[in-house]
Amino acid sequence: MEIDIITLFPEIALAPLGESIIKRAQKAGIVEIRAHNLRDWAEGKHRRVDDYLCGGGQGMLLKPEPIFKAIEELRRENTRVLLMTPQGKQFKQSDARRLAECGDHLIILCGHYEGVDFRVVEQLVDEELSIGDYVLTNGAIAAAVVVDAVVRLLPGALGDARSSEEESFSDPGLLEAPSYTKPIEFRGLKVPDVFLSGHHAKIEAWKREKAIERTKANRPDLLD
Ligand code: ADE
Repeated sequence: MEIDIITLFPEIALAPLGESIIKRAQKAGIVEIRAHNLRDWAEGKHRRVDDYLCGGGQGMLLKPEPIFKAIEELRRENTRVLLMTPQGKQFKQSDARRLAECGDHLIILCGHYEGVDFRVVEQLVDEELSIGDYVLTNGAIAAAVVVDAVVRLLPGALGDARSSEEESFSDPGLLEAPSYTKPIEFRGLKVPDVFLSGHHAKIEAWKREKAIERTKANRPDLLD
């Protein structure tokens, strides 16, 4: 897969993707991630990318011209264009799975200031995505989140395929049960006895019960 991120802050988008699993996936040729500065497509002495809102109002908006130029230069026949914006549809694990399987080229446009001129959304964007109900200073942070979630699902990115199959938000839509490692006793706190039983079916039943308890407490909406 190839991913082109268009942003005013390429370093912010790339920094979290330069370590660990995503770094290895890039080295292994599973994904190529590039971040471009939108200003490279802006014209004039000041390479201006923003302007005031039509009809008045607080803040600035990203202008359409540099974005149209950037996307028209970077896109190909099977490109999917995403816009990171708090106005988008909430990004879920199912979207990560879908995007990991959707083809070989993503362009991720990062909003900034009050967002982007809506002609961009209408003409160029396939989907608007939000990573949650809060407002970040810029979409580059959100783009890094989406890239991380998608790339780790690409074949070969995780050493052990099972670790992405069993995790939270895979079916059946429960949070994961609590898990423990050694030592068996730490500051008087013991690992639950069931783990010492060696009884696989009992351990699975315990995990399911705890997964339901945890989901009820932290994410009751998942049980609806
Ligand atoms: N830009 C600013 N806030 C955002 C959010 N929550 N999701 C996606 N892009 C954003």
